[in-house]
Amino acid sequence: MSTATAHPNIALIKYWGKLDESLIIPSTSSIAVTLAAYESRTTVTLSENSKNDIAFINGEPLLGAGLARISRVLDRVRELAESTVKARVVSENTVPTAAGLASSASGFAALAVAAAAAYGLNASAVELSRIARLGSGSASRSIYGDFSIWHHGETDETSFAEPLIWQGEELAVVVAVVSAAAKAVSSRSGMQSSVETSPFYRSWVETNNQLVLEALQAINDGNLEALGELTEKSTMMMHAVMLTTNPSIRYLTGQSLEIFDSVRELRESGVGCWATADAGPNVKILTRRKDSAAVAAHLSSRFSEVQILESQLGGAARLVEHQP
Ligand code: PMV
Repeated sequence: MSTATAHPNIALIKYWGKLDESLIIPSTSSIAVTLAAYESRTTVTLSENSKNDIAFINGEPLLGAGLARISRVLDRVRELAESTVKARVVSENTVPTAAGLASSASGFAALAVAAAAAYGLNASAVELSRIARLGSGSASRSIYGDFSIWHHGETDETSFAEPLIWQGEELAVVVAVVSAAAKAVSSRSGMQSSVETSPFYRSWVETNNQLVLEALQAINDGNLEALGELTEKSTMMMHAVMLTTNPSIRYLTGQSLEIFDSVRELRESGVGCWATADAGPNVKILTRRKDSAAVAAHLSSRFSEVQILESQLGGAARLVEHQP
């Protein structure tokens, strides 16, 4: 029995769309930071006499496609560990599930670490990131704390995440939870329709790969102003691709956009802060740790009905309990 924890990550330079649906090879590389405020905790227990894997998330049994994704990750671990034994997976999330707050990223990263330990597989961080990727692409990045890059690669071996070293001041992320409800269109099916139907898709891939290179430079220089601008650019380009998908996908609400405006207003008054959002209406604001209380206070005063939460950057996924 093995238990692991992992934190969600928020992409600064986004991933949206795959080259290979089954292996989850993305069309572009992406860069993210991990959030300490939320966590998934996953326990994997081998069940010698069971014919199937079983899984529970927050006490609810998982069936159908959700269970199949978990088995996909377990199958890869079993293949590497040369085992045929099924498993029981119990996962608890403090991340609102499927609300664009990266619950699948933390969940599958914790699953990869716990499953590798339970099956006695001695896997490196890069190998764990490839295993986590099979459950959810963004989970490849949650293996690491702080900053990471997911290299798009072209094959299972070359598509993995690695840590990056931020050379600047300590950072924080302020989260504005506009809605914790599950999204209507999953990121998996949304990105597939964008690849197939958005007339902007090809230019998204070209531009976003360029933004990755510029962001690597900004991270290496510890230049938050440059990184913040690149983050907002990648965010708006991804949402433009979503909007121009047929049928159109719209994750941002009017209130999300008002929060983006309010962040710009605060930035123009001299506080370094930049907003981003993923496949949901919630907005995450990248800022210096010393400014995060001011950003949270600014947003709380304008959006009294929105839950505002300050988070430090999170640590890596880790094994917290192991009984061979
Ligand atoms: O890996 P998924 O299916 O959770 O997709 C993540 C997609 C975005 O969150 C919108 C962007 C990203 O890079 O995390």
